[in-house]
Amino acid sequence: MDILLTGSVAYDYLMTFPGHFKDQILPERLASISLSFLVDSMSRQRGGVAPNIAYNMALLGERPRLMATVGEDFEEYRAWLESKGVDTSLAEVMPGVFTASFFATTDRANAQIASFYPGAMAHAAEQSLKDVAQQPDLVVVSPNDPAAMTNFAAECRELDIPYLYDPSQQVLRLEGDELARDMNGAYFLFVNDYEFGLISKKTGLGLEQILERVNVLVVTRGEHGASIYVDGDERQVPVVPTEQIVDPTGVGDAFRGGFLTGWSRGWDWVTCGQMGALAATYVLEQNGTQNHAYTREEFVARFRQHFDDGGKLDALIE
Ligand SMILES: Nc1ncnc2c1ncn2[C@@H]1O[C@H](COP(=O)(O)OP(=O)(O)OP(=O)(O)O)[C@@H](O)[C@H]1O
Ligand SMILES: [Mg+2]
Repeated sequence: MDILLTGSVAYDYLMTFPGHFKDQILPERLASISLSFLVDSMSRQRGGVAPNIAYNMALLGERPRLMATVGEDFEEYRAWLESKGVDTSLAEVMPGVFTASFFATTDRANAQIASFYPGAMAHAAEQSLKDVAQQPDLVVVSPNDPAAMTNFAAECRELDIPYLYDPSQQVLRLEGDELARDMNGAYFLFVNDYEFGLISKKTGLGLEQILERVNVLVVTRGEHGASIYVDGDERQVPVVPTEQIVDPTGVGDAFRGGFLTGWSRGWDWVTCGQMGALAATYVLEQNGTQNHAYTREEFVARFRQHFDDGGKLDALIE
């Protein structure tokens, strides 16, 4: 399957605060809040939703295409993604701008305070699926410049390309009518349980009504696993236990990467979900969103400690 991923491409500047944010916030002084945290570590990581999903798919042997607008500082990132097996030919450099940058500080309780500078991503809506030479089998519409998300979803409907609508953190920005319009006709809708509640509230649509608008709804529920709603059924996917949780960033993207690899192989929904769950667990065990690595043999062996694939996953190794 030819899967084209659209969404943010960013460098992540990740910091850790060796205390608890909640101890530093004075509720009676919220109106004049002014906080500076002395952090004890910082790293720059490759991030952004589309390459995060792409990286996880590439680890599993897929060759997804990445479509995005990036800055002049992207070239080392491009070389690295290409070396892993991601096709970056549709990652277009915007002259004189930085790649989008995400600055996040995480505290001891994994609470996070973050800012996101769009940079080259602000140009994402200038790209068009109509300029893509070969029509993909699936387009993933992940968090991006809001106008680009709207465009890509509209172009998918117009060109009759199945798409996965992944509004994630942009649910906060998007209006109820935009969310309702762009989920309507999507092949997949992926959200976490909090975002599901927010979408429901913003659109006024309940579960049944959302299921009338999309073929497959996947709701991830953090440590409680995920639910896949398809063909009038609800299937549960438990989590794969972690050895240790180092950093939760990127767990949702990894889940999507694992899931889409299973889907691309034509596997059943539960197997797709289980692939997502294991891909997510690997991310939790490392700092950053693309610092984990495994061979496909290791992935399959760990998968089989928890799930029964009936031998299908042999195909990943061949
Ligand atoms: N504590 C955990 N232990 C094991 N697996 C987990 C844990 N948290 C999340 N996962 C796995 O990751 C999947 C996605 O998690 P979650 O619902 O938290 O995504 P998210 O809220 O979109 O995350 P993100 O912070 O990346 O946006 C879950 O369905 C589960 O399979
Ligand atoms: Mg998420």
